[in-house]
Amino acid sequence: MNRTFVMVKPDGVARNLIGVIMTRFERKGLKLTNAKMMNIDRELAEKHYIEHVGKPFFEELIDFIMSGPVFAMVWEGQDAVKNARSLIGRTNPSEAAPGTIRADYALDVSSNIVHGSDSDESAEREITNFFGKSFEL
Ligand code: CMP
Repeated sequence: MNRTFVMVKPDGVARNLIGVIMTRFERKGLKLTNAKMMNIDRELAEKHYIEHVGKPFFEELIDFIMSGPVFAMVWEGQDAVKNARSLIGRTNPSEAAPGTIRADYALDVSSNIVHGSDSDESAEREITNFFGKSFEL
């Protein structure tokens, strides 16, 4: 049993996709243990995307994630990180398998609807960044 951090990005929130995204996770069998609608400030944006510092798309990424409310969630279950990533699909929606969230709802790598942690370590770091250290199962 483990847990992962998933976030509906500003484009997904603006397009009213929170419900359909949550339904996919629920139908898979993962369990929602925390969620909130919030705005991301620059400090949190840079902390969340620290591994992308210096990449050509970094500034665009930070501006985009601060451009509107996001919906942050914690999902729990067997192989939560891996299962969430298979529901989400590859980063570039053009390369994502049909039936994945990014393939079904997105066209562009910058506006790809949803973020999911890429490892157990990232998940714990991201959960702490968004929900605080005191959030425990
Ligand atoms: P995400 O899973 O949130 O993690 C980093 C994000 O950078 C990624 O999704 C993409 O939305 C965004 N991004 C923007 N441009 C690129 C790019 N050229 N290559 C990879 N990721 C990109």
